[in-house]
Amino acid sequence: MISGRMVSVSLDGVQDENLSQLKKLNSILFPVRYNNKYYADVLASGDFTKLAYYDDTCVGSITCRLEKREDGVVRVYIMTLGVLAPYCRLGIGTLLLNHVLDLSSKENVGEVYLHVQTNNKDAVNFYKKFGFEITETIRNYYVRITPPDCYVVTKYIGQPQSEK
Ligand code: COA
Repeated sequence: MISGRMVSVSLDGVQDENLSQLKKLNSILFPVRYNNKYYADVLASGDFTKLAYYDDTCVGSITCRLEKREDGVVRVYIMTLGVLAPYCRLGIGTLLLNHVLDLSSKENVGEVYLHVQTNNKDAVNFYKKFGFEITETIRNYYVRITPPDCYVVTKYIGQPQSEK
C-alpha cells in the first residue's frame, strides 16, 4: 500500500538486461537524449538507481550518479526521477526518492542534489516536501530547452565522516 491506496508497486535494479526499459521511459519523460556516459553512470550506481513497476508495467525510475567531493565525502547526484503521467500522484515518486534517501543515510552520503529547470514548479515543490532546498540558480545550464536556467536543489544528510 502506498499513499493509502492499494496498489502493487515494486522496485527493481537496472542491469544490461533491462536497460532498454529505462531508455524507453526516458524517451517518453524527458526532452533530452541521454548519452552513453549517462547509461554507464546508471550501471555503476548499483542500488542508487531503480525502476518502478506498477504490477508488471515499468512506469517510473530514479537514476543517480555517485560523486566524491575533494574532502572524500560521497554525494549523490539524481540525474533523473520520473513517473509516467497516468501513474503520477500515486506515491511512486515518493517511493523512489525515499529509497535513495534511506540508502544515502545508510551509506554515509553527505548530500543528495539535482538540477531542476526553473519553470518546473511541481518538481521543486515535490523536492521541498522531502527537505530539499534551492541552493543555487544556474543561468543557461541547458542548451536545447527553454527556459535554459536551472535550480540546484540539495538535501544535506547527517554528518558524514570524511576520509581525511
Ligand atoms: N503538483 C503539485 N504537487 C505535486 C505534483 C504536482 N504535479 N506532483 C507531486 N506533488 C507533490 C504532492 O504533494 C504529492 O502528494 P499528494 O499526491 O499526496 O498530494 C507529493 O508531491 C508526492 O507525490 P508522488 O505521487 O509521490 O509523486 P509522483 O509519483 O507523481 O512523482 C514527479 C512526482 C515529480 C517525479 C512526477 O511528477 C514526474 O515524473 N514529473 C515529470 C518529470 C520531472 O519533472 N522530474 C523531476 C526533475 S528530475
